[in-house]
Amino acid sequence: MGGVCDDVVEEVLKVVWPKPMKLFTAGPVACFPEVLKAMGTQMFSHRSKEYRELHKDTVERLTKFLEVKDGVVLLFPSSGTGVMEASIRNFVRPGGKVLVTIIGSFGKRYRDVVETNGRVPIVLEVEPGNPVTPEELDDALRKHPEVEAVTITHNETSTGVLNPLKELAKVAKEHGKMVFVDAVSAMGAADIKFSEWGLDVVFSSSQKAFGVPPGLAIGAFSSEALEKAKSIPNRGWYFDVLRYLRYQEEQWSTPSTPPIPQIIALNVMLRVVDRMGGKYEWLKIYEHRAKKIRSGVKSIGLKLFAREGYESPTITCVRAPPGVSGLDIYNRMRERGFELAKGYGQFKKTTFRIGHMGYMPDEYIDEMLRNLKEVVEELSKSSSSA
Ligand SMILES: Cc1ncc(COP(=O)(O)O)c(C=O)c1O
Repeated sequence: MGGVCDDVVEEVLKVVWPKPMKLFTAGPVACFPEVLKAMGTQMFSHRSKEYRELHKDTVERLTKFLEVKDGVVLLFPSSGTGVMEASIRNFVRPGGKVLVTIIGSFGKRYRDVVETNGRVPIVLEVEPGNPVTPEELDDALRKHPEVEAVTITHNETSTGVLNPLKELAKVAKEHGKMVFVDAVSAMGAADIKFSEWGLDVVFSSSQKAFGVPPGLAIGAFSSEALEKAKSIPNRGWYFDVLRYLRYQEEQWSTPSTPPIPQIIALNVMLRVVDRMGGKYEWLKIYEHRAKKIRSGVKSIGLKLFAREGYESPTITCVRAPPGVSGLDIYNRMRERGFELAKGYGQFKKTTFRIGHMGYMPDEYIDEMLRNLKEVVEELSKSSSSA
């Protein structure tokens, strides 16, 4: 049977895409046209020669992109949180302590992951909107020399803040600690020099700055961390990093079935990066978008949530004007065909967010900002006359 039920595709598409939308989401984000084209391909075995070639090439391209000189990049059939959990189960002793830095909701998730895996989180939390400073980290590590590792959210998606990762990692290394980095909404948009900065674990998901659908996680691991994993009992099965390493070394594959379409798509995007002139040229695209969106938002008279100098390259968190709900802005923009992101957690009403990731031509940004201005004016007017 084949091709006899084309209309069911239309039925489903009507459910998921009832009308055209331009995405400014926090992820999943709009995929690049090259990705959508490549993902339509027929499947093949993950134990085939063709898969091995795809896997090897993707890992080599990521190794170069992340500047991994002493360590390895592995691919996981999960979202990013899977590797967050793997970092704790593989590299921290049961009952061991971890300094968890929290600058927003995803730092809190890391704390919960530490706790639910039977390790002990020591929390360094700052006021939302701020990054962690190297001085604060240094101080916390002086007070808690017993911790085995430090976790850092590279880019806090809930507040739109980019942590000074290089400087924080330097402090952690001066104290001899392993550094675990949640780079879910940073990798592919903010620079990461894995080995030079002394990072031990860095992970991300496919559905963010690489503009690929969800389902694939990427993890980079230092040789030192991999060595330590050998002494950690009960690493589990599904996220046993040493098992992934063995499968990759022996057969350029994964222990269980990988999300082949996402790996094809990521491979396509890493080639696009090369065609555009390499990593640093690619990162400029994100810098350009972030600046354009931030200055557009400010020219409407809105204020950013992030402390100046630490604004995210992938998501702008905006304070809703007085008397106006961020949720209303989100809903009105949706009615006009622009899917932004709602404020996260406790900031649902007081903020809204504009994602910069994935497929996003400049004209979409201009159009979105024009509409945002009108929506903010409409809502401000109705709130002042109420
Ligand atoms: C900073 C950060 N960490 C972790 C996650 C969770 O990633 P995933 O949904 O891929 O597990 C997200 C998702 O938005 C995120 O933005």
